[in-house]
Amino acid sequence: MSAPTASLVLDLPDLAATAALAGRVARAARAGDAILLEGPLGAGKSAFARAFLRAAAADPALEVPSPSYTLVQTYDLPSFRAHHFDLWRLGDSAELAELDWAEARADVVLVEWPDRLGALRPDDALTIALQPTGAETRRAVLSGWGERIRTLA
Ligand SMILES: Nc1ncnc2c1ncn2[C@@H]1O[C@H](COP(=O)(O)OP(=O)(O)OP(=O)(O)O)[C@@H](O)[C@H]1O
Ligand SMILES: [Mg+2]
Repeated sequence: MSAPTASLVLDLPDLAATAALAGRVARAARAGDAILLEGPLGAGKSAFARAFLRAAAADPALEVPSPSYTLVQTYDLPSFRAHHFDLWRLGDSAELAELDWAEARADVVLVEWPDRLGALRPDDALTIALQPTGAETRRAVLSGWGERIRTLA
């Protein structure tokens, strides 16, 4: 039996707190990382991804278009290349090959609706589940990344 995965629960009082968490994740991220963003419609997955990409770019005005239709948007950032996936409209995981998923895994992948990955879901990922607890408040449950998760508190 494997040891239980360490997890971290953070209460995020507002959008700025979500953005600050995304900034900490961006500073800890490196090529090869998978960051999986779970939660219902409107939970803040895209808001988290936008803040992550802006922090990693050191550009608070970075344009972060929604990948809802293209399914993926790629960013060349100072420390790594990042691919922002939104898999809500993915037909099946075979379609991921067409999106160059395997190649993207060498870089940083940020994934909304990671359940669509099926068997391709990375087992070494950082998973962040966002749950609305009020209009502006969210609970984030983070798991994975071993000891590195402690740097995100
Ligand atoms: N603490 C918070 N963290 C994140 N978003 C928040 C917070 N408070 C309010 N919001 C708002 O909630 C909305 C979250 O929308 P967002 O598009 O990021 O959700 P999503 O999880 O990506 O949804 P979808 O599944 O439709 O892609 C935004 O309008 C954002 O401003
Ligand atoms: Mg979204």
